[in-house]
Amino acid sequence: MIKTWLTETFNIKYPIIMAPMFLVTNEEMLIEAAKAGIMGCTPALNWRSPEDFEEGMKSLKEKCPGPFGINLIVNKSNVHLKKQIEICQKYAPDFIITSLGSPAEVIKKCKPNGTKIFCDVVDVKYAKKVESLGADAVIAVNSGAGGHAGPTPASILVPILQKGCNIPVISAGGIGTGSGLLSVLALGAEGVSMGSPFIATNESGVSQDYKDACVEYGAKDIVMSTKISGTPCTVINTPYVQKIGTEQNLVESLLSKNKKIKKYVKMLTYYKGMKAVENAAFSATYKTVWCAGPSIEFIDKIEPVSAIIERIVKEYGEEKEKFLSKDES
Ligand SMILES: Cc1cc2nc3c(=O)[nH]c(=O)nc-3n(C[C@H](O)[C@H](O)[C@H](O)COP(=O)(O)O)c2cc1C
Repeated sequence: MIKTWLTETFNIKYPIIMAPMFLVTNEEMLIEAAKAGIMGCTPALNWRSPEDFEEGMKSLKEKCPGPFGINLIVNKSNVHLKKQIEICQKYAPDFIITSLGSPAEVIKKCKPNGTKIFCDVVDVKYAKKVESLGADAVIAVNSGAGGHAGPTPASILVPILQKGCNIPVISAGGIGTGSGLLSVLALGAEGVSMGSPFIATNESGVSQDYKDACVEYGAKDIVMSTKISGTPCTVINTPYVQKIGTEQNLVESLLSKNKKIKKYVKMLTYYKGMKAVENAAFSATYKTVWCAGPSIEFIDKIEPVSAIIERIVKEYGEEKEKFLSKDES
């Protein structure tokens, strides 16, 4: 067991959150995470409709043997947000991670039912804002993260946030080894939120090609693309990504700056990009747009969720011993 604010608050063995991943995380992964002594989180958007989401919540409440969380995208792109908040109010997941917008409504409606609210932040200004709104912890999304990474490395971001606000800091990005976990706990984080290493697991429902790519490619193959959602997002630099490029073309970027139509251009880019990612995640296609972060570097085979957790925890113990013996010598 490793004791931190996260483990004490949720009564889990290890201070690790399986991070929410669009199209990737699912009920089975959350159940396996709980069995292995951590807790998983999944986007409400991974269920196709609010009705499916409600069924999913009922099922998780019944079957998950430990705490679990739901991720809510709290900006205008999420047309189901109102309904998703109502469902979270009704079923009270153990925690919610908010991303890409203001958590105010979620905090107001879901916190009174006992759900802890964690908010994605990339700088101290926003961390202070969510703290003043009543967030229970911040998820410090650093420059090594998969998905929409922040601009700052963990070694800088965690201490800045720890000093700048009074709520616990959970570090997200780049963890896939025991030494990684040890290092961010040493920096003052109360836990980690870890996504990319769990893509290539037996339990994840994405295609074999996507999982194989996470094994075969490494940190050097991750690039930022604005082609997908309009906002920079990490993808594997496959031959297809190289062919289409990672920047919006001139017409797209001019249109997305035009005041009158930019809202619609953004929506269209987002819709087209998400469709491409969805097709690549579930079917065999040459249009290989796979979202993943540099921490796929640490994955060398497809294995159960539990095996990844066991390995990281074992390595953590060994690295800690090594570190302590360095200190004594
Ligand atoms: C494939 C993929 C999909 C993601 N989808 C979401 C999402 O839907 N919502 C969200 O808040 N974060 C999302 N993220 C970010 C993760 O929650 C987390 O911050 C990130 O994975 C941490 O970095 P790591 O991949 O190095 O562990 C996604 C990340 C990946 C790799």
